[in-house]
Amino acid sequence: MGERQHSKQGFLLCLIFCVLLQGSPSQPGSSHAYNINCTGFDLYGVDPAAFQAVFDRKAFRPVINNSIPTQVNISFTLSAILDVDAQIQVLTSFLWVNMIWENPFISWNPEECGGLSKISVSAKNLWLPDIFIIEFMDVDQTPTSLSAYVYSNGRIKYDKPMKVTSICNLDIFYFPFDQQNCTLTFSSFLYTVDSLLLGMEKEVWEITDNSRDVIRTQGEWELLGINKATPKLAMGSSLYDQIMFYVAIRRRPRLYVINLLVPSGFLIAIDALSFFLPIESGNRAPFKMTLLLGYTVFLLMMNDLLPASGTPLISVYFALCLSLMVLSLLEAVFLTYLLNLIATEPPAMPPWLQSLLLRYLRGCYNKRSQKETRGSGPDPIHLPGLMEPVVMAARVPGSSEARLNGDPGSTRVPLEQQTQGPPTVNLWGKFCLILDSMLFWLYLLFMATALSTIIVLWNS
Ligand SMILES: *[C@@H]1O[C@H](CO)[C@@H](O)[C@H](O)[C@H]1NC(C)=O
Ligand SMILES: *[C@@H]1O[C@H](CO)[C@@H](O)[C@H](O)[C@H]1NC(C)=O
Ligand SMILES: *[C@@H]1O[C@H](CO)[C@@H](O)[C@H](O)[C@H]1NC(C)=O
Ligand SMILES: *[C@@H]1O[C@H](CO)[C@@H](O)[C@H](O)[C@H]1NC(C)=O
Repeated sequence: MGERQHSKQGFLLCLIFCVLLQGSPSQPGSSHAYNINCTGFDLYGVDPAAFQAVFDRKAFRPVINNSIPTQVNISFTLSAILDVDAQIQVLTSFLWVNMIWENPFISWNPEECGGLSKISVSAKNLWLPDIFIIEFMDVDQTPTSLSAYVYSNGRIKYDKPMKVTSICNLDIFYFPFDQQNCTLTFSSFLYTVDSLLLGMEKEVWEITDNSRDVIRTQGEWELLGINKATPKLAMGSSLYDQIMFYVAIRRRPRLYVINLLVPSGFLIAIDALSFFLPIESGNRAPFKMTLLLGYTVFLLMMNDLLPASGTPLISVYFALCLSLMVLSLLEAVFLTYLLNLIATEPPAMPPWLQSLLLRYLRGCYNKRSQKETRGSGPDPIHLPGLMEPVVMAARVPGSSEARLNGDPGSTRVPLEQQTQGPPTVNLWGKFCLILDSMLFWLYLLFMATALSTIIVLWNS
């Protein structure tokens, strides 16, 4: 307050001088004499002696009254997102940090030196605020020997590039469709609120827009937006000013979709389609075995692309695809075993199964005969032995596929066995085919449910 009153008096006293010199009264120090005589700077260059008093003070915070806090306004431009490491939970980015503060010991009259309003000064000769990023995890790799601009009204503008390795709580559950929200907290290491206050030099939307313009790297991460909050940090009895920036970034998933999801989807589709290979030919189990092997190799190769820690949804998806393949392989093995057993020594069919099977087949036939030849169908009792191969060929996808395959030897034999063999063998054969198609539908149902669950989770 006393300072203010004093400057008011000073203002009144040297009003005339001020008008003559055309110095703005609001500029710091303008009510006093300028403390740097810049005469001749435009003719002979900057005189180091004129700044010597300022340089000698660089060890101390530049204030006249020590109870007045220095206001440091900061902003930054995010110029690159270099790496996001989910294993050690670290975000590596590159920032251009701008800081502006005032030094009341610097003021000169630009009129005296040909309109010279700013001078660049080596930063090591000036007091610098110790602003750092709380999340910092690495040594500061800021290049040394930077310069700062010193303005005639005492403002100092200091910009520095910074490679920031900061801890960030990364959640990779939705990988590769994940978004991350990393915090960069600017704060002073030493000065409490009564010595140093932080302010914004630019608005956050300006920072975001500038960063979007500057980030030219079409890397893996895309900048979504930047938000800020300004809570004070209490440490024991001291209170520190800080500004938190929330940097929201999103992964570009294309690489992972092309390299992980699409091949995996193809393999699982082939696995589903391989149900159309006739089970009697004995080709299906080896085929599925090969597919399973191929999928394992694929997973091994693509393991590097997955985040090394945590369990993302995509790992669940892969495990699901693998288990579907294993299940369908087991089904093929089981049915091959069953068919083999029937061909060598058919066990007696339980009566309940037989009656169920007969009823089912009759139902099938009735539906079919109603559609095609109304009223002129043969006796339903004879149906299982005579007509069934035709009916089954229409129902089970494998049989029609086999005929297209042009491998008559393998398919014809079991069919003939079915038509000529004893009734139990025929019934068992039909049972296998029905079981196969039932399990196929079950497999499809399970696959559809699981995949749609995962897709819904990914979209949420
Ligand atoms: C310094 O500033 C404080 C608070 O603004 C004020 O109370 C005090 O009088 C000032 N000291 C001088 C010498 O002006
Ligand atoms: C600045 O210095 C020059 C000599 O270098 C001197 O002639 C001039 O009077 C000084 N101006 C002020 C305001 O002290
Ligand atoms: C810092 O920002 C505040 C308000 O945003 C402003 O009043 C002050 O003059 C600025 N200080 C500097 C040194 O730019
Ligand atoms: C990031 O997290 C902070 C709190 O942790 C929240 O306030 C902010 O809105 C989040 N930003 C985005 C873009 O989700």
